[in-house]
Formats: sequence, C-alpha cells, structure tokens
Amino acid sequence: ERSRYCLRWPGCYYRPHLISSRSDFYGPFHVPFGASRHEKVRFLVPSAPLFERVPGTLNTMKVLVLGPGGREHAIIRALLRDPEVTEVHSAPGNAGIAQDVPVHAIDANDPAQATALARELNADLVVIGPEAPLVAGVSDALREAGFDVFGPSAAAAQLEGSKAFAKKVMEEASVPTARAHEARTLPEAEAALDEFGSPYVVKDDGLAAGKGVVVTEDRAVAVEHARACFEAGGSVVIEEYLDGPEVSLFVISDGKNVLPLSPAQDFKRIFDNDEGPNTGGMGAYTPLPWLPEGFVQEVVEKVARPTVARMAERGTPFVGVLFCGLAVTNRGVRVIEFNARFGDPETQAVLARLRTPLGQLLRAAARGEISESTELDWDPRTAVDVVMAAENYPDTPRKGDAISGLDKANALEGVHVIHAGTVVSGEEIHTAGGRVLAVVALGENLGAARDAAYEGVRAISWAGAQYRTDIALKAVENRIHIPAPRD
Ligand code: AMP
Ligand code: GLY
Repeated sequence: ERSRYCLRWPGCYYRPHLISSRSDFYGPFHVPFGASRHEKVRFLVPSAPLFERVPGTLNTMKVLVLGPGGREHAIIRALLRDPEVTEVHSAPGNAGIAQDVPVHAIDANDPAQATALARELNADLVVIGPEAPLVAGVSDALREAGFDVFGPSAAAAQLEGSKAFAKKVMEEASVPTARAHEARTLPEAEAALDEFGSPYVVKDDGLAAGKGVVVTEDRAVAVEHARACFEAGGSVVIEEYLDGPEVSLFVISDGKNVLPLSPAQDFKRIFDNDEGPNTGGMGAYTPLPWLPEGFVQEVVEKVARPTVARMAERGTPFVGVLFCGLAVTNRGVRVIEFNARFGDPETQAVLARLRTPLGQLLRAAARGEISESTELDWDPRTAVDVVMAAENYPDTPRKGDAISGLDKANALEGVHVIHAGTVVSGEEIHTAGGRVLAVVALGENLGAARDAAYEGVRAISWAGAQYRTDIALKAVENRIHIPAPRD
C-alpha cells in the first residue's frame, strides 16, 4: 500500500503547508499531529478506493477547476484529498486558492481560453464551478476538444439558465413543483399575480445568479419587479408560493445514473431572521437532523431521476451536479429551482464531510461511469459554514479592505477558511467581492459545529465586514417544522 503511494509521489503536486497538523482538514487521511513531512506523506491513504483499478497500476489525474469563488475553493480542497489526484490547477481562482494550487489568469467564461489552458496543462479532468461558463458553452468546447468535463453542456445548463425551460422539463417529467405562469406583458403578469395571491413570487427568466427573484406580500413591489424585468427585455415567471423549509440537494449525474450527496440548508437573505434582500447565500449546514427518513431517496425518485432521464430523451444529457432547490411543503416535496452546478455556500459544508475521493467521483460522472450502488463515505460530524460579506453586499459591496485574523481562525480545532472574494495585495489579503469568505467548521453535533464556526468568524475582521448571526440556529433549537400534510 505504501509503495503504491510512493510511486505517485515524484510527479505529485501538493503544498506541504496543506498537510497540516489538523487531521480534520484532511478528513479521511488522519494525518497525526506532529508527524514529519516525510511521515505525513505515508498517511495519504484513502479510506476505501471508489472505483476498481487495474491491478498493479495507479490511475492518476491532473484536474483543472474553473471559477473564482468559495465553491471552487471548497472543490479544490476536496480534490487535493483524493490520492489519485496528482495535480490541481485553478482559473482564475482567488487569493485563498492561490495558496493551495497554481492559478491561471484567464477568462474562464471564454470557451477558447479555457480549452487552450486545458490543452497546455494536458488536464485529465476539467471541473466547471459556476453557471456562467456553462451557459457560455465552455463545457461543450472542452468536450469537443476531447477532455473529460464535469459540468453540463450549454443546452443542458438551460435547466438553470431559463426558469421557463426548467418548468417545461419538470412538466414533461412529472416532477412536483410550484404552479407557474410565464408572462411577457404587464397585464399578463398582473393577472397571474392575482390568480396565485399573496405572498407573490416573481422570477426574472434569465440567469440572475439567484438574485432575480422577488418574494413579497406587497403587490406593488411584485408588479414593479415584473415591470423592471420587462424593461430589461426579459419575461417573468409568476409562481404559487411554497411554504415549508428549504433544502438544497446536490445530485451527481453522469447523464444517466444519479448519486445524491448529503442534503444541506442555505440562508438566502442578507439579514438575520431571513430579512432583507436575497443574496447568493450567507451560510449553510449539513446534514439536516429534521428531515424525514427517506427524504433523499424520495427526491432521487421523484425529481432527479425523472429529470435526468427526460434531459437524455431530449438529446441534451445532463452531466454534472443537478442542484435541486426544494421546499418541504404540506403537500410533499416541491422543486423551487434547479441549478446546473454546486451551490455556494452549501458546497463548503457538504464537501467538508465527503470522504469519498472527489476527483474519482467527478471523473466517473464525466465519463458516464457512475454506479448508483456506490455508497458515499461521509464524516459522521456536522458541518456549518458562515459567510462573511463586504459592507453593502448584495448591492455595491465595498472592496479593497485588509483582512486580519485568517491564521487565527484556521488554527481553531475543526475550523478552516474558504476564500471567495479575496486578492493578494503585497503582504496582505484584501477583500475583492461581495461574499468574501466562508468559515467552515466540523463538530460532533450541530451546536458544536455552529459554535466553532462563529468562533472562527469572530477571529476574522475587516472594515465593514458583515455576517448573519443565526446560521443553523433554528435547527439547533429544534424550531424547524415541516407543515402538516394536507389532502
Ligand atoms: P430561486 O432563484 O428560484 O432559487 O429563488 C430564490 C429564493 O426565492 C428561493 O431560495 C426561495 O427562498 C424563494 N422562492 C423562490 N420561489 C419560491 C416559491 N415558489 N415559493 C416560495 N419561495 C420561493
Ligand atoms: N446557495 C445557492 C446557490 O448557489 O445558488
């Protein structure tokens, strides 16, 4: 076993400082405290190989991860734990990613630039993080050039890119979702608002990075959002309001077979108690102790499998993560939305618990080789992450402030910091975006994980930093209730 891993070592890329004294960081590998660097290498042995190897050989892979944010940083950290992953590269990355792997300053949304970089690196697998490159056709260009790609084609990414398209596929596949009307004129929109009643749900039919939705009890606000969407040249989708707690479930799809990850909950609004405007997400935790038994399997059967099957029938197979945004309502589970990628900041929590080697899993998906009987291996602990955002996020976030306390947070037991909007400026790390970073903590239970995450948050500061103080609080206090079933 040991010599096999030594074999890969000469070509192996890793950052010595990543093989730290904190064994939780490396999840499955249990690097003991105080081990020398040479000794630590020996401990890089996976808990269980995910896929069969040809005896006597070792599958190694060089992975290129496209995207700039926290989700990509979390994906990269998980890839670095996979013993078959010998090198990871990032484009364009951020200051935190650059501490872990080489970064390449290209426009990752440009199919030609992404393909040129993958060729230059001779990448074995390209993982596409955000939605923008997917919709821009980056995955199509890479696939055409012969690369294994984790991320759907532009056509399949329409499940996220167009709410109206997603509704159509759900209807064709009999997937439970909110009733909806697509409106192209203001009178149509108003008629739909009145049909469904308050609370009103108005969605811009285009890619809006999760911000083009207004949920309000004020009819005038709903009408105003519809008017703004029409003025911008779009159409809107008006929906029936779904009650009940929300769940994010990521389902890995190879185009045919599906494998669900551990469910998570996100916090979309900027302020405590779900007040203020929608954001990309201000924190997350996983798993969800309040979910009914069999929930994940139900979503696989009623949502993921039929959607993936329908996409294949349409001639646009979905290869990547089908992110099911769900409401657990009094009439059962309903899809709020699909995304065609991992969620941010849920990924930071979900992948912190994943012990199954991620590179092997994503490569199997890219190659159409997912086995539905695969049992994923999860850290039994709970993960919580809290996003720290810049002043004035989500409007026009303030940038360029020096961040302090990162080392202190990272040194806490069970805690690590994932970067999103950061840049290196001289000796310092500065804020460079709306969501700046996420503090992730693993704990024996939800309360412990939550406390550790907030201890990390309190260690970090910059001018104008803001964060929610109630991430995972309702779940800790047992205050999440699924509405009683209704006929
Ligand atoms: P979306 O971009 O579709 O995910 O919507 C953003 C957020 O708006 C969701 O996470 C929900 O919190 C809320 N939302 C969207 N659609 C509905 C709905 N039909 N009923 C209730 N809340 C919704
Ligand atoms: N956290 C929700 C999203 O990634 O859209």
